[in-house]
Amino acid sequence: MADLPATVADVLRSSRPNNARANVTGMLLTFGGFFLQALEGPDERVRTTLRRVAADPRHTEVKLLGADFCSARAFGRWAMCANDLSAADDDILKVLDGRGEFVPYQMTTAAALKLLTSIAAIHARQTEAAV
Ligand SMILES: Cc1cc2nc3c(=O)[nH]c(=O)nc-3n(C[C@H](O)[C@H](O)[C@H](O)COP(=O)(O)O)c2cc1C
Repeated sequence: MADLPATVADVLRSSRPNNARANVTGMLLTFGGFFLQALEGPDERVRTTLRRVAADPRHTEVKLLGADFCSARAFGRWAMCANDLSAADDDILKVLDGRGEFVPYQMTTAAALKLLTSIAAIHARQTEAAV
């Protein structure tokens, strides 16, 4: 992707108001040319959002790693929280993935959620520390 930070900024500019309106929350990770995203909220709203995102030409080979009902939100404080993982985070990814090799599109739902919630927790702590 030509300019990933600009693309992510652009995605967030439309995601945040759209998601807030739809009562959708979530997390978007970028790393090594991949996006990993969690969306949560009312079933139909999440499906509508996902259909729109999947049709976006700014990414290709979109894969749904999992979908499930849950009793509580994991990313409730963010209309869309974004985090960029750098090559320096590689060791963390390997540990979280549990296989010594990080292949995002082969992640299980549980591993993807664990990764996203772990990063969200770090993000929340950093945000609180900055206040
Ligand atoms: C990786 C990725 C994630 C996205 N996530 C969202 C999202 O959570 N919510 C959303 O409304 N749009 C998201 N988008 C953008 C949509 O594909 C689409 O461009 C946007 O919803 C159009 O909204 P607008 O007409 O209000 O600009 C995402 C795009 C990409 C490439």
